[in-house]
Amino acid sequence: MQLGVCYYPEQWPESYWLRDAQRMVAMGISHVRIAEFAWSRMEPHAGQFDWAWLDRVVEVLHTAGLKIIMCTPTTTPPKWLVDSDPSILAVDANNQPRRFGSRRHYCFSSAAYRVQSRRISHAVAQRYGRHPAVVAWQTDNEYGCHFTVQSFSVSAHKGFRAWLQKQYSSIEALNTAWGTAFWSQSYTSFDQIDPPLQTVTEALPALRLDWRRFGSDEVTSFNREQVDILRAESPGRLISHNFMGFFTEFDHYKLSKDLDVATYDNYPIGFTQMFFLNPQEKQQWAQVGHPDIPSFHYDLYRGMCADGKWWVMEQQPGPVNWAQWNPIPKDGMVRLWTWQAMAHGCDLVSYFRWRQTPFAQEQLHAGLLAPDDSEAQGAIEVKQLAAELQQIAQKFPHGHAPIQSSVALVFDYDTVWMAEIQPQGQNYNALELVFRLYSSLRALGLNVDIVSPQANLSHYSMLVLAAQWHVSDALLQQLEASKAQIVVAPRAGSKSAHMSIAESLPPGNLSSLAGVTVKRVGSLPPGLDVPLFQHLQSGAQQRVANATRWAEDLQCSHASPYWVNAQGAPIVTRNAHVTYVGAWLDDADWQKLFQDVSLLAAIPTQSLALGLRISCMGGFVLAANFSDAAVAWQPAAPSAPASRPAQILLGDTLIPPQGIAIWQVF
Ligand code: GAL
Repeated sequence: MQLGVCYYPEQWPESYWLRDAQRMVAMGISHVRIAEFAWSRMEPHAGQFDWAWLDRVVEVLHTAGLKIIMCTPTTTPPKWLVDSDPSILAVDANNQPRRFGSRRHYCFSSAAYRVQSRRISHAVAQRYGRHPAVVAWQTDNEYGCHFTVQSFSVSAHKGFRAWLQKQYSSIEALNTAWGTAFWSQSYTSFDQIDPPLQTVTEALPALRLDWRRFGSDEVTSFNREQVDILRAESPGRLISHNFMGFFTEFDHYKLSKDLDVATYDNYPIGFTQMFFLNPQEKQQWAQVGHPDIPSFHYDLYRGMCADGKWWVMEQQPGPVNWAQWNPIPKDGMVRLWTWQAMAHGCDLVSYFRWRQTPFAQEQLHAGLLAPDDSEAQGAIEVKQLAAELQQIAQKFPHGHAPIQSSVALVFDYDTVWMAEIQPQGQNYNALELVFRLYSSLRALGLNVDIVSPQANLSHYSMLVLAAQWHVSDALLQQLEASKAQIVVAPRAGSKSAHMSIAESLPPGNLSSLAGVTVKRVGSLPPGLDVPLFQHLQSGAQQRVANATRWAEDLQCSHASPYWVNAQGAPIVTRNAHVTYVGAWLDDADWQKLFQDVSLLAAIPTQSLALGLRISCMGGFVLAANFSDAAVAWQPAAPSAPASRPAQILLGDTLIPPQGIAIWQVF
């Protein structure tokens, strides 16, 4: 478990470097990420490299004992490059080129930019790839940030057509798959096909879906070109890329196949303001972040690389500058987020950034140090963490045992795109649904693995299909073979791979497993909630839940109604293995349902106090308190009489607001 920091030597006088490096080491920092925005300093004019300054930086950091995560600088093509070849620029949805003056202005599909990306990556890799201080690489920076996956450039047009030709082979096959008979949209050649841009009303859903898939594949192939160069020029170093929060514009599973470490940039307070939480939640968690935002991403990105290796590459150290409102995190939160990452299997947390910059775009973004070089709150917490990590590491001399989760939540990028294309209700957000289900499971104290639809599902006791609109044959086979309790959230199996309605009506190929057919669906505008009831053994009915946003008319074949509407029609059904949920439920209702299913799956749950979260990693248990009240908690006594009771290693059984406690369990 180690600490790192993001450092921008090019932004500070050289006279600062040595002192900065020494202060990092004194603070307990071991890793430093550099150079992702430094292209114009590496190559001030076309073909004229200036490595001298970066050579000195690397030596200073190395001599101080720091390990370097070096970056390819392709996220910021310099002005001379843009001016010499404007075709490298991405084109926005208004058909306008994105311009120089911030970052990420390049087009993933530009052949000219690919040449440049390979050229600069090769140059940096050759220069530093075998340096003993360089232990890892980051490709580019946050692919897709600022809505940059999709580009409507001429190169992307061409690339899209070639991509389609490869997928469909014949134009007839494409016409059939897309349903172009509708509104006279058929094509006679791949060369006629344009990206979904400036159509009068919504463009063909299947075309839009393929456009998203194409864009995603472009990011993956762009990344792979850099990875190939780094592997050749920098043997033995780990290769990473930093992923973002609630970001689904490309398929991270596919891209991660080429990485050794998936990394995540954790800005919980900014994400709480920016994304789909309701106003009450935004207010409640304004200064600590929603308790499940960090771990949702920890568990998602933990599932990316083959051996589960993941890091936090950028951790918010104080207020950020980019959300609608940017409150100051409560004292203790930097420590809490870091410990929680560690408890989800992370072995490096790196802070963004070392020192707050007094100039340019991010001048109101905190660093570990204030602009005047004094220690900000982030630095105070990092020093505490460094001491605590050392103390805890002694108790785990062989590292941590792997995380074991009884529950797998299947997460699928394709479905998020389908739902964005045809939500059928303004507030039907598939990503939000997945997050809400995750959060409800975590509120019951459960460890959750977030996995791809291709993952091996055989060892789980509960499987949750949170948003899986298309179920492949391979996934269906795994579900059929599984002994787990399966929870199927609405709209699963409802679509073909090309986003048409499933042949046998939703839930399509899941129908026989779930024992239901969806006859009709409707979205529920605010105020049209549907109360749900459960039959008690006495014969009476009890109101148990509320459908909001979405409700389906279900017909049971071999399943029984479990929760019904006021007319007695099933909304949630159940058979021996599958609970099918034909509605969007509130968090508390999902929790109720998961509690029931956990009982069937023999998974112990607990009802955690508001804002308390538990993370278990082998013999290591963390309790993290996001709330403003002290909360009492401790691990349950071991069931086997001979087992040793848990030993508290840090903190107390009364966990203070924004505090943590750690136990070793045997
Ligand atoms: C990240 C980005 C960093 C910095 C940071 C500010 O998205 O990778 O370069 O901009 O946000 O919070």
